[in-house]
Amino acid sequence: MSTTLSPVEINPLSSLDVWEDDLLDRYPDPETIAEGKTAEEFRNYETPARESVREFYRLNHTYQTYDFVVEKKKDYLKFDKKEMPVWKAFDFLNTLVDDSDPDTDLDQFQHLLQTSEAIRADGHPDWMVLAGLFHDMGKVLCLFGEPQWAVVGDTFPVGCAYSDKIVFSEFFSKNPDFYNPEYNTKYGVYSPNCGLRNVQLSWGHDEYIYHMMKDYLPEPALYMLRYHSFYSQHREHAYDHLMDDHDQEMFKWVNLFNPYDLYSKSPVAPDWNQLKPYYHQLVKKYLPETLKF
Ligand SMILES: [Fe+2]
Ligand SMILES: [Fe+2]
Repeated sequence: MSTTLSPVEINPLSSLDVWEDDLLDRYPDPETIAEGKTAEEFRNYETPARESVREFYRLNHTYQTYDFVVEKKKDYLKFDKKEMPVWKAFDFLNTLVDDSDPDTDLDQFQHLLQTSEAIRADGHPDWMVLAGLFHDMGKVLCLFGEPQWAVVGDTFPVGCAYSDKIVFSEFFSKNPDFYNPEYNTKYGVYSPNCGLRNVQLSWGHDEYIYHMMKDYLPEPALYMLRYHSFYSQHREHAYDHLMDDHDQEMFKWVNLFNPYDLYSKSPVAPDWNQLKPYYHQLVKKYLPETLKF
């Protein structure tokens, strides 16, 4: 891969939230629609933001090759970058806040806490609450110098044909794997219904947090972490041919999780001081004192 990325190629978006805002445009809250609001009322669709999202996906689809994924996993899954007490890790993640985006009024931690609180309010198991609290921790990859398109964005399988259900799929024609006969067939390097555990997904914050948590949380929570940005499957069902029965079963949890991620954003911040004792207990129950990055 080219080592000569320009600053705008590293950070095409004014903030990571621009990608999430775009997700809301693609998958608006069905309840908001039911209340009779128009798409315009729901969200003001800014052309400049959409342009940067387009450029973001051009870069993502161009550079996320099979080899790129293998290389990133080799590097980051050593977890030799940093070790931090759990609660310090949230402070570290929060240094990601950008003031370049006037729309961004909530920091990363607020999004995590709103997600976990919405899950808790609905009475789901405590490990799902914990998955909510940690699901975007992998965005610290940006702080280790990774370009935005290797941290966020919809994830998709590499090593086999790209689905046209993936957002901006036309940009895959820029990806060298698109022309590689080993990779560009329906199954590519995989076999029918081989199970997602045998499939490489594009590299980003999902895969990273999954590996960080895999020894500590029950399997449904791990599926939520690992596949929460895999929209072409959990929303579009484009890769049923790679999933096995167990994946299908576990994706019920991924589907249950997704609305909490997308639709729990509120301008009102939860009262952290009041919630702190609960979350300290919860973290203690499942996680070690420090996390390795
Ligand atoms: Fe995420
Ligand atoms: Fe999220």
